[in-house]
Amino acid sequence: LLLILTTVSVVKKYKDVEAVVKIEEVDGEELVKKFAEEMEEMLGRKMKSVKRLAEAAEDADLYHEYNETLEFEYFNSMLINKVDEDGNPLSLGGEFALEKNEHFNKLPVNTQLSNIQVPTNVYNRDTDIVNGAYMSEALNDVFIDNFKKDPTLTWQYFGSATGFFRLYPGIQWIPDENGVVTFDCRNRNWYIQAASSPKDVVIVVDVSGSMKGLRLTIAKHTINTILDTLGENDFVNIIAYSDYVRYVEPCFKGTLVQADLDNREHFKLLVDELHVKGEGKVKIAMKESFKILNEVAALGQGSLCNQAIMLITDGAMEDFQDVFEEFNWPERRVRVFTYLIGREMTFADNVKWIACNNKGYYTHVSTLADVQENVMEYLHVLSRPMVINHDHDIIWTEAYMDSVVSLPLPISVCLLRNIH
Ligand SMILES: *[C@@H]1O[C@H](CO)[C@@H](O)[C@H](O)[C@H]1NC(C)=O
Repeated sequence: LLLILTTVSVVKKYKDVEAVVKIEEVDGEELVKKFAEEMEEMLGRKMKSVKRLAEAAEDADLYHEYNETLEFEYFNSMLINKVDEDGNPLSLGGEFALEKNEHFNKLPVNTQLSNIQVPTNVYNRDTDIVNGAYMSEALNDVFIDNFKKDPTLTWQYFGSATGFFRLYPGIQWIPDENGVVTFDCRNRNWYIQAASSPKDVVIVVDVSGSMKGLRLTIAKHTINTILDTLGENDFVNIIAYSDYVRYVEPCFKGTLVQADLDNREHFKLLVDELHVKGEGKVKIAMKESFKILNEVAALGQGSLCNQAIMLITDGAMEDFQDVFEEFNWPERRVRVFTYLIGREMTFADNVKWIACNNKGYYTHVSTLADVQENVMEYLHVLSRPMVINHDHDIIWTEAYMDSVVSLPLPISVCLLRNIH
């Protein structure tokens, strides 16, 4: 549709200057077909590249024997080209040639080698990391070969469940202004989208009076973090409750919307404006959420896969059990994940009960720093079952900006493989 519109507007503009510009009649349909073919070919090349990588990674994993005492010096992208006080290269570092490259946004890169980033909270020489680094060395040749075959490729990478991230071409990883590296490939949207199944999610947030101050700040951050785990294959809505239920976006009342970038950003702005008042009545909010999810499932809309409610509250007091009995039992088709906000533990048992009796997961979020890790927990529960049909496991993610190297990574293609 976009291509057709573009063609039309070009013709219109030229009409105004017909006297000086000669208009050549083009076959619109033919033009669109040509564009589509070129697009398909371009995307096809990307898919071939990622398939070659996945195959190489599978092979490498298959032939790699896990070695508990393995010693292996890999190039750590944070330690390369650095020396200690005596001028000796750091271990896991050493000399790593870098050259400015136009194709990679003028960054200094090494197109002959990939290198590895490990999240700050993971030990560089952890046995899993060392084995993974050793095993995935085999990808180097494939990266180089892919780039030769398709020079339009930009970054190629492999993210592991153990946390290491192998990036081609190799770069020097620059910490942020605070000197820390927060990047963890497992938290990136492309990783999550490839590793979890499509889901319908209703986020339910308590905005009663007791949620004021830091609790509300933590709750908002929790919502944003949950939104960040969603993508175009997911559907979402957000409900705030106190004495009554309200949709943060009244236009989305009673339904779910695609969790694409636009909607996620739109929700974030609205969530930021939430304020607290009144008494929390969780029961009505739950009822509304089950109603939406049941309706969407009955109509065959939404993700047609997992359904979940994310309840964010500092405690539930009323008698709420029968709402689950009425709407979710005995099948418990909708999982309920609960996030207990704040230091107060008085109502922890109630909030735990809700999660445990609805195939969910309970987490306690007492500080802002807890949010990321706690939110990620739900993904383990909703993670993709073993990939059985290999035809369907290529995931195209939406266009997004990634902080890897502060570069726009246009669209990325990921392939999930069960590699340890
Ligand atoms: C495991 O790694 C250590 C150190 O690199 C090596 O000496 C040993 O032979 C390896 N074991 C096996 C079974 O490959």
